Amino acid sequence: MSTEVKISAEQVMEARHSVRKYDPNEKIPQGELNEILRLAASAPSAWNLQHWRFLVVTDPAIKEKLLPIAHNQQQVVDAYATIIILGDLEAYKSARPVYDEALAKGYVTEQVRESMIAQIEGAYNNNPEIARDEAIRNSSYAAMQLMLAAKAKGYDTCPMGGYNRDALIKELNIPSRYLPTLMLTLGKASVQAYSTSRFGLEELVIQNSF
Ligand SMILES: Cc1cc2nc3c(=O)[nH]c(=O)nc-3n(C[C@H](O)[C@H](O)[C@H](O)COP(=O)(O)O)c2cc1C
Repeated sequence: MSTEVKISAEQVMEARHSVRKYDPNEKIPQGELNEILRLAASAPSAWNLQHWRFLVVTDPAIKEKLLPIAHNQQQVVDAYATIIILGDLEAYKSARPVYDEALAKGYVTEQVRESMIAQIEGAYNNNPEIARDEAIRNSSYAAMQLMLAAKAKGYDTCPMGGYNRDALIKELNIPSRYLPTLMLTLGKASVQAYSTSRFGLEELVIQNSF
């Protein structure tokens, strides 16, 4: 009999907080890790170009090398996985495979496929600002989904911007096509996250216009 208890999206969002202390002896079964990554990859993306890639570091020796790069934040070593979220700076290259598959599955007509590909190639043509904005924006949606999927499965995460990007690129041989947009630790908490508060809606919401 399965003992799995499903919790609602609302409960997952309320429960997720950034965990910095992990049990280094706790592993995540590969099937479960794959399921978390699959759920992360179900995020929306502009033109469905799926700008995210997941560089999953579980090798203890490589995690040790990440320690100074992440300014000695110990969680990158203790968590089962440290995942580098990469944004695809050349996502227009995915247009043809994405829309060929959509056509094969009957989701779009040939005419729609051609017009989408033309639109995408036009937008990316000689426009590094668009490429960078889209890489960061879209890969961040997958990062957020990854954190929520992990929490739903009883694991914790910490999003991290505190690392030396150039050193990371060099250490992990990240090709120039991919921009590291976030580092994430994923594992079993040994100490729960500390509490944080949020602005109230009165500070956050602007009705209709400034
Ligand atoms: C882009 C980004 C960068 C962050 N960088 C770090 C980091 O380098 N180290 C760290 O311990 N926490 C980091 N955090 C976690 C934040 O401190 C945390 O999300 C915030 O304080 C709210 O707390 P909560 O996530 O526990 O709700 C980062 C979060 C984000 C979204």
